[in-house]
Amino acid sequence: MVQKILFVCLGNICRSPAAEGIFNKKIKDRHLENLFFVDSAGTGGWHVGNLADPRMRETASSRGIELKSRSRQLNENDLYEFDHILVMDKDNLHAVKSLIKDDFNPVNSKIKLILSYSKESQLDEVPDPYYGGQNGFENVINLLDNAIDGLIDYLTN
Ligand code: 4NP
Repeated sequence: MVQKILFVCLGNICRSPAAEGIFNKKIKDRHLENLFFVDSAGTGGWHVGNLADPRMRETASSRGIELKSRSRQLNENDLYEFDHILVMDKDNLHAVKSLIKDDFNPVNSKIKLILSYSKESQLDEVPDPYYGGQNGFENVINLLDNAIDGLIDYLTN
């Protein structure tokens, strides 16, 4: 059975496209592509149709990760379409959960902070790099790289 994985951030041009690209590279390297369908989306719609931020694409590219996705906005249907919804920070978590009308809806259990899968980081949230310098983009890749190893281990065990 194909597992459907959705990464979510605010703009869908920095963190969640990076997560999608890293996840895609790791499953390809491990010959697991047939087990997953992967996508990303933003809780906001300001950048819909745009490629990832050039700073994020360049940082990812320097690690051999190509970011090809275009920004789209999360919609309510995504909550039912995907099996696992991984958000970058607590604002994203609240924004996604606000699309669910019922606190007891089982969809709630699909939504997790991506860093909850990290075996290294003590952080809960992947910091938004958009208004910062180059370090922020490197930091996003480093945090996601480790968390996505943990996520893939979880999903394949
Ligand atoms: P992302 O970063 O949520 O990681 O894609 C951002 C991108 C754009 C904006 C904020 C965060 N913005 O305010 O336009």
